[in-house]
Amino acid sequence: MAIYKRFFAQIYDPVVYDFEKSLFAKRRALLSNLKGTVLGVGEGTGINFKFYPKEIDVIAVEPSKAMLKKARKKNKYGNISFHNLGINDPELDNIIEERSIDAIVCTLVLCTISDPEKALLNFKKWLKPNGKLIVLEHIHATKQINKAFQNFVNPVWKVFADGCNLNRNTDLLINEAGFVPVKEEYFKRALRFYSGIFELKESN
Ligand SMILES: C[S@@+](CC[C@H](N)C(=O)[O-])C[C@H]1O[C@@H](n2cnc3c(N)ncnc32)[C@H](O)[C@@H]1O
Repeated sequence: MAIYKRFFAQIYDPVVYDFEKSLFAKRRALLSNLKGTVLGVGEGTGINFKFYPKEIDVIAVEPSKAMLKKARKKNKYGNISFHNLGINDPELDNIIEERSIDAIVCTLVLCTISDPEKALLNFKKWLKPNGKLIVLEHIHATKQINKAFQNFVNPVWKVFADGCNLNRNTDLLINEAGFVPVKEEYFKRALRFYSGIFELKESN
């Protein structure tokens, strides 16, 4: 597993580059106005770093040592502290104070986290009252036949794609957790995508 994780980190940038380029404008639109203290969830190889404004403080959380090593090399854009942890690891509560985070960035990561509901609960704890959740994610298909195909291939896909789920209802999970969109967008690339900026409902 550790060997596969190292291999995955090595091939990640070259394999996803063409696809990634098609998402750069979306990343820029979501990330370039961030302010204050930002939590980067599963920063991977650090693709987001070049879109972050230089003056923000970033807490970058990433459980794969191999990915984190790649991300550290891209740290020429700003003030970033690195933590080799998963987002639901209890150690994070010693690093992140309650209601201290201005924005939480989840790009292509809510598909992979093993307990996304718990992660969303943590986000609610860490975000300031007007804090923002920033999301860019591929999600479940809508057509029944495509959905059935995603469900069929997901167990194999997940093994080769380092835990990524093709068929997750991330849009619904965000809503059920009590977040409301400031803006949201459904769009298509090779898969169906969902992106947006979210705040907590006042009752939360
Ligand atoms: C597809 S990559 C996306 C990386 C980056 N966010 C991006 O937009 O390019 C998914 C990342 O989520 C990380 N990850 C997996 N489980 C996680 C968890 N529980 N908490 C935080 N990150 C996690 C993986 O190690 C991987 O680097």
